[in-house]
Amino acid sequence: MKIVWASSEAVPYAKTGGLADVSASLPEALSLRGHQVSVVMPYYPQQTARLNLTFDGQLDLLGVPFGNTTEWASVRILKINPKLTYYFIEFNRFFDRATLYDWQGQEYSDNAQRFIFFSRAVMETVTALRLDPDILHLNDWHCALCAVYLRSGHYSGHPAFRSCRSVMTIHNIGYQGNFDKGNMFWTGLGWDYFNWQCLEFYDRLNLLKGGIMCADMVSTVSHTYAEEILSPEFGFALDPCLRHRAYQCRLRGIANGIDADDWNPSADRRLPARFTPKSLTGKKKCKSELQKKFRLPEKPEVPLFGVLSRLAYQKGLDVFAASLEDMLYHNDFQFLLIGSGDPGLEGHFRYLAGKYPDKFAAFIGYASDADSHLLEAGCDFFIMPSRYEPCGLNQMYSMRYGTLPIVRQTGGLADTVLNYSEDTLDRSTGFVFHDLTPDALRNTIRWAADLYRRKPSAIAKMRKNGMTADFSWNHTASEYEKMYHDAHQ
Ligand code: ADP
Ligand code: GLC
Repeated sequence: MKIVWASSEAVPYAKTGGLADVSASLPEALSLRGHQVSVVMPYYPQQTARLNLTFDGQLDLLGVPFGNTTEWASVRILKINPKLTYYFIEFNRFFDRATLYDWQGQEYSDNAQRFIFFSRAVMETVTALRLDPDILHLNDWHCALCAVYLRSGHYSGHPAFRSCRSVMTIHNIGYQGNFDKGNMFWTGLGWDYFNWQCLEFYDRLNLLKGGIMCADMVSTVSHTYAEEILSPEFGFALDPCLRHRAYQCRLRGIANGIDADDWNPSADRRLPARFTPKSLTGKKKCKSELQKKFRLPEKPEVPLFGVLSRLAYQKGLDVFAASLEDMLYHNDFQFLLIGSGDPGLEGHFRYLAGKYPDKFAAFIGYASDADSHLLEAGCDFFIMPSRYEPCGLNQMYSMRYGTLPIVRQTGGLADTVLNYSEDTLDRSTGFVFHDLTPDALRNTIRWAADLYRRKPSAIAKMRKNGMTADFSWNHTASEYEKMYHDAHQ
């Protein structure tokens, strides 16, 4: 099939979260299965500068209808393999920025314009370069409008889209692209699209809603999350739309995979030592390097708990913050946190790191690849107390590196981590708790530490279970193929 994959971020060109990892690894996996894949994303010069990219071609003038005028962008072309090409939309007024979506916690005031423009530019790239896709795969709200365009008079009759169907993947329904309706002007769509079955949402313009309602298939990134978002608790007010699509059998959950070559402890050149499920000696070296690097006492026997996350409401780290000091005061544990986001949480973690420097290290900011890999490799446990989690990648990275995840039973975390118990020890991979309370989290962390000290054989078995599990795209890429097929039915 010919697949056009649109996304606002992809590793290594731009990243704020897991969407970027998936937008790199899944298109690649699909291309290796024989599909012709084109990834279209914005060109963010400030993010790519360090990569010194040499492009394979350029389309100098791409006319993009925008409001009542036409803006002129260009498209930079990068061939990754014979079946995988990236198309970067270059339009500096919107994308030459230090960060992708916000500045110091404030969303850019022109985000509606920026991503309406991007969506329109995706459509124009397809027609200008005659990509003639069978599938237009849209990811999150930034390009959701493409599903509406595909059904509109602007593109429905265009030969480049003759055999095209759209797939809308929701990576996080907490972010919807919900804007003042005045922004309809930039879309070039008439007010007839501003209705409850399309883009209108409580008298505002909701781009993700348009994608959900107009796409031929809608998916999200785990089975459990696909069910959860049908409820008011998890649906962020789009649950009625999702129930509508589910009723039409047009909604499904497909679990994310990971790039198993990039995240491979036996070949990871970023680590001070490598290790395998059979021999974990290298992991000990990683732990002591990690402790040294983040100025924690180099004690092999003390359990080390890691967090690597956006400090966003979704991630439940406020609950971690509330549970932490009690453990720092009473327990001989070490914690290492890398993250940025909520200023209140950042301040709290900084304060605790200053107060308990032998037990808690906090790096507030964005970690390098090398540090992220070292954290996954060097910790004993990895904490993810998410309020909701569409899939989550870090728990899979952790398991692959023999680090046991401690997760809340929600979304993809519930689907990928099997709780420890004696009865299931041959399959268990971590620790799972239910209530999002400081007590529940603290008790689970203490339970894990207790097992670490009392029963190292159980910990060793679980590490092995996680390291030998297959989280690669091998399984799930075929489910995407099936969905692409079903989109044509
Ligand atoms: P989400 O996309 O909701 O943030 P995921 O678990 O799917 O959650 O993916 C998060 C990705 O972002 C992982 O690759 C993780 O390592 C990375 N990440 C998050 N915060 C940071 C940070 N402060 N520094 C480096 N990487 C981070
Ligand atoms: C989102 C979700 C995360 C998921 C990622 C990739 O950012 O929050 O759970 O793993 O997208 O699909």
